[in-house]
Amino acid sequence: MKHLVSLLLFVLLTDKYEGAKILGVFILCGKSHYHLGNSLMRGLAEAGNDVTMISPFEDKDPTENGSYRNVVLTGIADGYEDHLKRLNLFGGNDFNSFTHIVGFHKSVYSQVKRAFDHPNVQKLLNSNEQFDAVIIEQFSNDALQVLPHHFNAHFIAFSPVGSYYTVNNMVGNPTMTSYTPGFITTFSRDMSLFQRIYNTLLHLSQCFLEYFVLLDKYEKLLTEYFPSAPSIYDLHFNASLVLLNSHESLGQPVPLVPNMINIGGFHVKPPKVLPVDLQRYLDEAEDGVVLLSFGSNLRMHNMDEGKRNALVNALGKLKQRVLWKWESGYDFELPPNIKRVNWIPQMDVLAHPNVKLFVTHGGLLSQTETIYNGVPVLVIPVFGDQAMNANNAVYDGYGLSLSYHDPQFGEAKLTAVLEKLLSEPRYQENAKRVSRLYHDRYMTPMETAVYWVDYVIRHHGAPHLRVAGVKLPWYKYCLLDVFGVIVISFGLVIISLVFLLKCILKVFQNRKTATKLKGS
Ligand SMILES: *[C@@H]1O[C@H](CO)[C@@H](O)[C@H](O)[C@H]1NC(C)=O
Ligand SMILES: *[C@@H]1O[C@H](CO)[C@@H](O)[C@H](O)[C@H]1NC(C)=O
Repeated sequence: MKHLVSLLLFVLLTDKYEGAKILGVFILCGKSHYHLGNSLMRGLAEAGNDVTMISPFEDKDPTENGSYRNVVLTGIADGYEDHLKRLNLFGGNDFNSFTHIVGFHKSVYSQVKRAFDHPNVQKLLNSNEQFDAVIIEQFSNDALQVLPHHFNAHFIAFSPVGSYYTVNNMVGNPTMTSYTPGFITTFSRDMSLFQRIYNTLLHLSQCFLEYFVLLDKYEKLLTEYFPSAPSIYDLHFNASLVLLNSHESLGQPVPLVPNMINIGGFHVKPPKVLPVDLQRYLDEAEDGVVLLSFGSNLRMHNMDEGKRNALVNALGKLKQRVLWKWESGYDFELPPNIKRVNWIPQMDVLAHPNVKLFVTHGGLLSQTETIYNGVPVLVIPVFGDQAMNANNAVYDGYGLSLSYHDPQFGEAKLTAVLEKLLSEPRYQENAKRVSRLYHDRYMTPMETAVYWVDYVIRHHGAPHLRVAGVKLPWYKYCLLDVFGVIVISFGLVIISLVFLLKCILKVFQNRKTATKLKGS
């Protein structure tokens, strides 16, 4: 009996979920990046963990379970709004170019330095506090990878764009440039020979730039800030887990090593009740509603006037109501069916059954929300990964794409595309089909994230999930040494054969001359 009681007590005590101490590091100022980080860390807190979050913004809402502490990078986001207003992201295609990548690296480098210098971060660094796991948003900010080491914690990386070359390299996952277009290209998964050459060269140069230039710069930065830390090249390849903001329903399927986990959609909350006036506006739309939003970074007043008018005119001709997110710089008459709003509870509007179409820039978050609700899309990609997301929507048949930079972008083309999307039922059907695939998972994406973070802590960094390839030097990983030996051996065999053939020919020829001489 006594044994039974102690056994029962033991079971009760050990079965109780012990929350872990988890640090989140999301230093980018972009609203969508913060939104992802905040959702993930809040989810981990609600699951009973003790969460600390380093980010440019503050989340003051109390949590029901666990705890959520902000370490705010005060001042870092100041001026970012003005910067966005000035920075015309509609401006041109060169955001996808190689020079832009270099510029982006430079800007992130200075953000990392500012984060290290920040008094709130310094206070945490000098606090002797320890964590069980540190989750870092991976976006060219590799010096932050010293933090798991500093806090004696397991390193978990979070990729906002799913699997891509950096996180792939970190855990030894293949990047198949034969069928996975780089996320800044405009290619679809069926690439021509030229596109595959371009895609491969882009990939190689990005890897080169990151490995030999960026990491080298961060190595020097670390010797300045963390003199006793291991080399960045050791820290970089030591991630226990990579959480990917992706899922097969949101993009194409790709190979993933065991410690890469899809959690795409974790930031989406079930729809909430709409504000009364918006609810009425949507309810009363007999012919349905078209929702239009270019996300949080693109500003309507930066849009080319001709293209904006084309869009207004094409949408003005529809019988549907149009709800347009338009922040500022609004100074002219809109057609009667278009309603302009400063801000939209996008997720909750998309959930309304009268919403027939979503005109979007194709940001991954918007794309996820539209799939959650099974709403077809017209994607107007502008920069970054948007063209890739647009291609996925076209491939899966729940949308059409018309690039903002397409020379054909005009009223006639837009009218035709809108007409097609609103009249043909297959777009709606495919949106519903992909939505079913999105929802059909054995755990919700947030539960998946919570489970795997806990798993890594339970199993002390889960080294058993790491593929051996992560320890190999790159030339061995790519089998360059093997191919080298094969090519050289093959060459030697050919050379020997040629030599042998020449000898035989010579002997033959000598004999011929000899017989000729004899005969004459
Ligand atoms: C808080 O924990 C309780 C009990 O474990 C759970 O039922 C509830 O869903 C949690 N709340 C949230 C917001 O996750
Ligand atoms: C690599 O990760 C493991 C598991 O989290 C940890 O024990 C080890 O100290 C880390 N190595 C370095 C160099 O940080």
